[in-house]
Amino acid sequence: AASPAAPARRALRGRAASLSGNPFLADGCLDHVEDALILIEDGRIAAFGPYAETAGRLQADVPVEHYENALILPGLIDTHVHYPQLQVIASYGEQLLAWLHAYTFPAELQFADSAHAERVAKLFFREILGAGTTTAMVYCTVHPGSVEAFFAESERFNTRMIAGKVLMDRNAPAALLDTAQRGYDESKALIACWHGRGRQLYAVTPRFAGSCTPAQLDAAGALLDEHDGLFLQTHLSENTDEVAWVMSLFPDRASYLDIYAHSGLVRPRSVFGHAIHVGEEEFCTCHATGAALAHCPTSNGFLGSGLFRLFDALDPRRPVRVGLGTDVGAGTTLSLLKTLGEAYKVAALRGAKLDAARAFWLATLGGAEALRLDDRIGRIAPGYEADLCVLDLAATPLLGFRTGLCEDIEDLLFVLMTLGDHRTVRATWVAGECVYDARRAGAPLRY
Ligand code: GUN
Ligand code: ZN
Repeated sequence: AASPAAPARRALRGRAASLSGNPFLADGCLDHVEDALILIEDGRIAAFGPYAETAGRLQADVPVEHYENALILPGLIDTHVHYPQLQVIASYGEQLLAWLHAYTFPAELQFADSAHAERVAKLFFREILGAGTTTAMVYCTVHPGSVEAFFAESERFNTRMIAGKVLMDRNAPAALLDTAQRGYDESKALIACWHGRGRQLYAVTPRFAGSCTPAQLDAAGALLDEHDGLFLQTHLSENTDEVAWVMSLFPDRASYLDIYAHSGLVRPRSVFGHAIHVGEEEFCTCHATGAALAHCPTSNGFLGSGLFRLFDALDPRRPVRVGLGTDVGAGTTLSLLKTLGEAYKVAALRGAKLDAARAFWLATLGGAEALRLDDRIGRIAPGYEADLCVLDLAATPLLGFRTGLCEDIEDLLFVLMTLGDHRTVRATWVAGECVYDARRAGAPLRY
């Protein structure tokens, strides 16, 4: 019999930090190693520890990428983003419902052309990998070709991505609508092709209750029942006018979340974007069902939607799973570092303090918990998939000056979340391969 291929081994050396638990619920979750060695075998982390203790396991022929004046973190996780909306980022002057009609729907119409979808998917991956994001939960458009283009590009990088075809059968331009049956059939075919293929995962994606008939929401629930491990993504209680309008479409439902619950959509691996205008009862339902929320601070500020109640959601008496989302194109950046800086400001406006350990948990392991992938991504630990981002502590003169004054890891992480952006990302690793290196002249992205 043929002998198995030699394992692909890689190694990174440098300062490293990773969360080992939820710092909203317990102290002491932040692991920090001044001079760490991370050993990778076949795309997974084989060892992580102080260089002095781990170097004995390093084989002589394995190249070591030594990152100096840097911080190695788990790859960042974006739990809510629309790749087709790259082209409407920074569109002026409207709140949610008018913004959808004025900017977003016209842009999404262009994804009937698969060549357009391929171009935008390519740009999206360049931008997120350059920003240190290695996993995202992504809305495509109503067109199946937009999903094909997205997953095909993800497969080139071997990124762990969750995405799905938007379901919408009312209240948008006719060319952007499917029907309950057609949306079901097209989703079914995409699931058969992509769900669990390599690192790709499928999310059933009813856009929101305002764009879906009850029949379409029921069809989404049927899909979830018919396949193992599917995700569900939609929007919830983002804007007060939206909430009033949606409730008028579903007068028999007790709350916005109850609309989704009625169709069996509130369950583990369901992720609801925004959830700003919700009450204690909805938080309790999310806690009890294991559904998750995506906090999208730059979007919520940009559209004037409101201030997410992060500390209420994570109340230790009934913690709700919460991840961080950029929500581009309503969000104003694909950088989760910048998004954390904005999350800090949202908390501050609510009279709360988002410390760095909690913030970086949201962008890594917390996101993984929201997606129920926390057994494989979101941490630097043996057995985890080797998705990493490396931050350059001196990416700009000001950053180098300011980080040079930091006395401990909490201080350093807080400076990074306040000042950091895509320029701060020195390198991004996906499944044990360096896919982005800021210092690779000309073509920093490898594929
Ligand atoms: N609600 C329904 N669709 C959308 C969308 O595309 N973006 C945002 N921010 N909210 C939505
Ligand atoms: Zn959104």
